[in-house]
Amino acid sequence: MTKKDQVSRISGFYDLDLEHRHQELLDRGYLTPEELETLLPETGLSLEIADHMIENVVGVFSLPIGLALNFQINGLDTLVPMVLEEPSVVAGASYMARLARDGGGFMASCSDPVMIGQLQLLDLEDLSQAREQILAHKEELLDSLQDLDPILRDLGGGSKDLEVREITHSAIGPFLVLHLLLDVRDAMGANAVNTACEFIAPAIEELTGGRVHLRILSNLADRRLAKARCAIPVESLAVREYTGEQVRDGIIEAWAFADADPYRAATHNKGIMNGMDAVLLATGNDWRAVEAGAHAYAARFGFYRSLSTWSVDPEGDLLGELELPMAVGIVGGATRVHPTVKILLKLMGVESANQLGEIIASVGLAQNLAALRALATDGIQRGHMRLHARGVAITAGAAGEEIPQLAAQLVEEKKIRIDRAQEILQAWREDE
Ligand code: MEV
Repeated sequence: MTKKDQVSRISGFYDLDLEHRHQELLDRGYLTPEELETLLPETGLSLEIADHMIENVVGVFSLPIGLALNFQINGLDTLVPMVLEEPSVVAGASYMARLARDGGGFMASCSDPVMIGQLQLLDLEDLSQAREQILAHKEELLDSLQDLDPILRDLGGGSKDLEVREITHSAIGPFLVLHLLLDVRDAMGANAVNTACEFIAPAIEELTGGRVHLRILSNLADRRLAKARCAIPVESLAVREYTGEQVRDGIIEAWAFADADPYRAATHNKGIMNGMDAVLLATGNDWRAVEAGAHAYAARFGFYRSLSTWSVDPEGDLLGELELPMAVGIVGGATRVHPTVKILLKLMGVESANQLGEIIASVGLAQNLAALRALATDGIQRGHMRLHARGVAITAGAAGEEIPQLAAQLVEEKKIRIDRAQEILQAWREDE
């Protein structure tokens, strides 16, 4: 199925049981029966493949895959697989995507997929002279990298530019840093960048008489940015006793807090990463790399602040914007090895790393909105409690139909505790 045919609004999906959710995906042609099999715990990542992925393998680890619905990004519907352990995240993203849909969905874009590789250049007698030497030979240095990866070159990627920075103050005194800018197309790019850095190092030493020490990509991928924005009609924000205007203004006040205070910004941005990490995991991407880039970018003005901005647009609607580095790929690494990842990427219908980045940024913005909307109204616990109660019911030993029943009773009693869950369960079982 192409992306154009996908419909991300599946009404009633949340209320279906697992079997019927599977049936829905089959009936709509999103997955074949064989593909669906791959999502089941017994048929996903095999021990044999796992053994080739990392060292000292002793098993595989499972997490739930949830589907976030309602996402419309750049006019196209997109089903969004999310892998995580935290309740409320998938529901929150889906609900906010529905609100955003009322305002035309998310508009998202990515810059060219340009990653930065760093070379640390030490033991130089004259930093300015070394810098000039490098810049004078820039074109031939870049050319020397063109044949390193012919596939990347033929796809329009490869070395694009070279910059020299001077670190004037450090524990070891001043030194130069060379930034190699490489377009990595649909890859995350760590391998291509690190290979290029290592390849070019001897030529830099020869040109400058210095010593190249580190040769490694930078996770502050600020040449590879994703942007997402959405406008939520103010009337869609009304909830219970709160008017749309109150919720809108409450969200902006909450954002202002995060933008001014790093203690709050850390939690605010964590909420964004709740959504982004879950998609990064589902698509086999290096979520630590994106996390590192996001947090470094959040501190780019000299102090740590919110990654998103929320404001009122001229129509009085709530305008949300998010911009951050997005080093993701749809080729290489786990994206080609992990059988479940392959199916989930296919389910999303993404055709490029940039398209995936646009989805991930949109999910981050939606997740941020879900958290701020809850915090600015009833607080976060209300929504959490029902799902949290399910976890408590399972921990207390409930099985099958007992799980939702016990969870509902715990919520009603406002006693979401294991000891109470065990008590109720024991009483039920004695009655049988
Ligand atoms: C919890 O996982 C995430 C939140 O704390 C985010 C936020 O406070 O904005 C709810």
